[in-house]
Formats: sequence, structure tokens, C-alpha cells
Amino acid sequence: MTVNVRDLRPDDPTDVEAFARVRHLALPYILWTPDAILHNLAHTPAEARFRSLVAEEEGEVIGTAQVHLAHESPEPGQGMLNIYVRPDRVHRGAGTHLVHAAERHLTDHGATKLLAWVLDEPANRAFAERHGYRPSRSAHFLRLDLTTGTLPPPQSPPPGVELRSAADLADDPRPLFELDAETASDEPSDVDTELTDYQAWIEQTWNHPCFDRELTTIAFVEGRPAAFSIAYTDGPTGRYATAMTGTARAHRGRGLAKLAKNDSLHRARAAGFREAHTGNDTDNGPMLAINKWFGYEIVASEVRYVRELG
Ligand SMILES: CC(C)(COP(=O)(O)OP(=O)(O)OC[C@H]1O[C@@H](n2cnc3c(N)ncnc32)[C@H](O)[C@@H]1OP(=O)(O)O)[C@@H](O)C(=O)NCCC(=O)NCCS
Repeated sequence: MTVNVRDLRPDDPTDVEAFARVRHLALPYILWTPDAILHNLAHTPAEARFRSLVAEEEGEVIGTAQVHLAHESPEPGQGMLNIYVRPDRVHRGAGTHLVHAAERHLTDHGATKLLAWVLDEPANRAFAERHGYRPSRSAHFLRLDLTTGTLPPPQSPPPGVELRSAADLADDPRPLFELDAETASDEPSDVDTELTDYQAWIEQTWNHPCFDRELTTIAFVEGRPAAFSIAYTDGPTGRYATAMTGTARAHRGRGLAKLAKNDSLHRARAAGFREAHTGNDTDNGPMLAINKWFGYEIVASEVRYVRELG
């Protein structure tokens, strides 16, 4: 049987749903919706050369890849390839075909360093190593059951702090962009992030179909956003995930990240969500401590694999 690799067909809803389905089966800790997959394809800036690829066998989508340059990093030449094959369709060559197509695309556009997230299981690690990649840092996926009562009680904001939802910033989200930019640059990662383009942030982040403005909480200090917790939700399966939590440097260590995230989690539970997902770099001591306080448990880990090209 032959496996072919081609671009996702964004105008074909069946194809986009098949992509989301494969992703969900391979990596159930992240919210994959057809809307979000189309959104990334349409709104990632052109300089990222973003492509979504599928591996197809006899008309069935069995593997997926998202491939792009790290356009938000100050270091040029970094290419990202994230490849997931349906767990019940491995060993048919889909992964290898996707790696080759992704690497060709990235090197054609000047990448000299390739980075891929790999779910931390022996077969996946061996696959990455066979393709010349070496392990670097790692990250955890975490899950919190909102129904069992481990969530700490709601907290009242201290004097001078006010909690609002992101929907309150609909007329002017720029202060949230500025806070996201400051905190994203401090998040531990092997790829530095510099968010400088407000319009691109509006298109990619603020208008992301999973971004739930009502359930996103922002802690204001003296009228300015000081900490935030961004909620992603997905209509069809009723899932909730935290896409980012951050506190401005000048306000860290005062409990504001806990306060903002606790408020968002309580409002999510009140809205009927039964579990919460998130992900953290294994070196992010403060964020892992916060998530432990909430009662999150590690459900899986992934490892960043890197290949430097000569
Ligand atoms: C992580 C971050 C959001 C924390 O914000 P904050 O407002 O300072 O957090 P809080 O004050 O609510 O809580 C911090 C907790 O981490 C603990 N902590 C701080 N440094 C720590 C460390 N190095 N190791 C372990 N725990 C640590 C604190 O003791 C505190 O817990 P406690 O209340 O039990 O004492 C903030 O540092 C930040 O914006 N970092 C950059 C962005 C980022 O990495 N976001 C997470 C992305 S997944």
C-alpha cells in the first residue's frame, strides 16, 4: 500500500476534520478543532511559510504535520516540524514521508536548525533519533479534574487588584498584547519569542477561534493588566485548556498568577467544564508549583528533538 504526502485541503471540511481527528487521537492533551487548524493555516504570518501536511493511505488521512519557520524568534534559520501519526496506523511509513517533506520545505526556506516536539515514548524517541535528531528540553502535559473538589476555593482580590475578563478589553486589547509579549519572552524555551507585531497578534491570538474571552481572566493593578490566564475552549467536545498564564515582571511573587488562573478555573467549572488541560516546560518551577497547588497531575511528557544541519 502506498502512502502519499500532500498539503491539507482547507476548502474540504472532511479533510480538515480528518486532520483534527488524527491530532486528537495522537495528542489528546491539546484542543484540536477544524476551526483552529484552518485559523493557523490562514493567519500565521507569511514569513513563517506555514504548511499543514497530511499523509494519506488509500484515501484515508493517517498522519499530519505542521511545519513552519520560527518567525517570532530573533534567531533566524530555525524550522519547526511537528508530526503526529494515528496511533493505530504507525509503521506504514507515514511518519518518514512527512519528515522528509517537512525537512525539504524548511531547508528550501533557509532553515539550518530543525526542532520537533516528540511525545516521550520509546518508539517515538527512537524514530526521532533514527532521523538524526537529538533530545533537548522537555515539557509536561497536565490535567485537572474540576469535578473532584481539589480546586482551591475562590479568592478575593487584595486591595488595589481587580479581576476582569478579556471580553472587557474588546475595544482595545493592546494592553493584553503588551503583557503577553513581556511574559512570553520570559517563558523557558529553547526558542526565544519576541512578540512585536500587534496586528499579527490580533489575528493569531486575539481572534483565535478557541480563545474564550469570557473565561480568560486578567488581574488589573492600578488600571493596567498585571497578570492573566488565557482560556481556550472548544465547542464540540466541551474542553477547556489554559493557553498561557503570565505576570508582569514588576508584579511577580505576589500570588497574581494564582489569583487570575483560579478565577478562570472557577468560572470554567461554573460554566460546566469538567476538566482543565495545560502544558509546562519542565524547567518552569514557578508555573509547575502553581499548577501543583491547583491539583493538576502530569498525564504525559514530550521532548524537543533538534537537528543541526551542517
Ligand atoms: C510563572 C509566572 C506566571 C508566575 O507568576 P506569579 O504571579 O509570580 O505567580 P504567583 O505569585 O501566583 O505564584 C508563584 C508560585 O511559584 C513559586 N515559585 C517561585 N519561584 C519558584 C521556583 N523557582 N521553583 C518553584 N517554585 C517557585 C512561588 O513560591 C509561588 O508559590 P507559593 O505561593 O506557594 O509560594 C510568572 O513567573 C511569569 O509570567 N513567567 C513567564 C511566563 C511563563 O513562563 N508562563 C507560564 C507559561 S506555561
